[in-house]
Amino acid sequence: MINYKEEIAKLIESNMETDTNIYNLIETPPNKEMGDFAVPMFSFAKILKKAPNMIASDISEKLESEYFIKIEANGPYINFFINPDIVVKDVLSEILKSNENYGKTDIGKGRNVTLDFSSPNIAKPFHIGHLRSTVIGNAIRNIYDALGFNTIAINHMGDYGTQFGMLITAYKLWGDENAVRENPIPELLKLYIRINSEAEEDESLRDEARAWFKKLEEGDEEAVSLWTFFREESIKEFNRVYKMLDIEFDSYNGEAFYSDKMEPVIEKLDKKGLLKEDDSTTIVDLDEYDMPPMLIKKSDGSTLYATRDLAAAHYRKDTYDFYKNIYVVGSQQILHFRQLFKVLELMGNDWADDCVHVTFGMVSLPDGTLSTRKGNIVYLEDVLLTSIEKTKNIIADRDIEDKEKLASDIGIGAVVFQELFNDRNKDYVFDWDKLLSFEGETGPYVQYTHARISSLLKKGDFNNETSIDYSLLKEPEEIEIIKHLAKFPEVIIEAGEKYQPFIITRFIVALCQMYNSYYASTSILTDDKKLKEARLALSFAVKTTIKNGLEILGIKAPEKM
Ligand code: ARG
Repeated sequence: MINYKEEIAKLIESNMETDTNIYNLIETPPNKEMGDFAVPMFSFAKILKKAPNMIASDISEKLESEYFIKIEANGPYINFFINPDIVVKDVLSEILKSNENYGKTDIGKGRNVTLDFSSPNIAKPFHIGHLRSTVIGNAIRNIYDALGFNTIAINHMGDYGTQFGMLITAYKLWGDENAVRENPIPELLKLYIRINSEAEEDESLRDEARAWFKKLEEGDEEAVSLWTFFREESIKEFNRVYKMLDIEFDSYNGEAFYSDKMEPVIEKLDKKGLLKEDDSTTIVDLDEYDMPPMLIKKSDGSTLYATRDLAAAHYRKDTYDFYKNIYVVGSQQILHFRQLFKVLELMGNDWADDCVHVTFGMVSLPDGTLSTRKGNIVYLEDVLLTSIEKTKNIIADRDIEDKEKLASDIGIGAVVFQELFNDRNKDYVFDWDKLLSFEGETGPYVQYTHARISSLLKKGDFNNETSIDYSLLKEPEEIEIIKHLAKFPEVIIEAGEKYQPFIITRFIVALCQMYNSYYASTSILTDDKKLKEARLALSFAVKTTIKNGLEILGIKAPEKM
């Protein structure tokens, strides 16, 4: 496919002496009258000793290319207007040919990216707050896959820490194996809450818990087997959600995995002279960098969340030699990751710069709109099941074969879509009515557009082997849609660079809106056979792009709705 920006850069560079990177200067003009691309001339004024307006008008006169029907100066800018005849054929034939691969590039070839996301805590609820890390993390993973990187999805589960001593103590006192097997997390949570409240009266419980944690660290058989049981039962519950969302991890190495990998890192810190004793705890002082100290060891010698993250980062570098090491974790942990990355840097790791904390804001609930299993914790699984149930009611009287599957594709897709619709740093309120609506900027709307095109293609007997006369597509709406389609590969690149899946979501919504208005005003299945084929080819390209985009976001694209 023609890379218009590259063509513009070449064109200008061959007509002007400069070492400025023209490609990076290219902008999209605010309105169509100003063309498809604009290049500002401000940065040349000094060297050429001329006003930007003058430069624009002088240079634009020299520029000529078959790819553009018009190149003209507009104040200090040069505006470029794409040649419609060329773009139509170029883009549509490319999409028809590459089909499910349209949008993918190989810019990441041969490089590894580790992504730490979802990462819930064992024996603790997998709740609606985890939706964000899980869904955003998975989308970023898919984006990096589409860019040709080799991705490694890591579920850094919270499966370690002194609280497991409490849990073992509680289980031995009051636990019921069958109850835990049947309903693992709520049962374990009950035990955990009970022991914490009873320990307030009875200090000996804490001593016992400490003793159990110590045994766990030393590999005592009973302690390890109970911990393994809690862990496995919790993972079963997490996996039900991952299955619904169709998310897979390459590694489930949680915090416990690093229990024997911290010592070498602590030694390295010591050798570098970074450790300090402070009130019998061991810390790295970060005062100089305006941060509180990073706690490495408590006074009883036990390690912390941060210590395990230090070990994990080293392990990931050694094992995967990452190009980027991404953590998709809420904004509450900004300080933790700043400290972590700073300490990695102070240790002399040049790869500290390749570590990225991808933050996100909070999701909240308008009170009482979600059914919950227990108290005020909203389990993620319940959110997804509720969405499926609500969808079932909406599609109850449609004539469709597998309603269960469709309700799940729409219901889950709607939740994921809402999650990925805004800049991830924005807080949002979970809104059932909005997210399940078939109108507006929603998952069902996009899926419906896709399904509608699918049935149109069937009805029109479209076959993507037919030779198409692209020159028949001349309507301004058709050209606009095609120019939009052409941007898809760049949109994925931008979403990857910014770790912002919503750039893709918005691109797809805009595409659906353009297509639906075209569909309403144009007869696609016209009697003119050649014209019908060309319009169906355009429709096919739109459908393919929607589908590929949804797949990256982690949303299904049903053929029929
Ligand atoms: N388990 C943590 C939590 O629920 C998230 C872990 C994120 N990953 C990491 N490497 N620290 O808050």
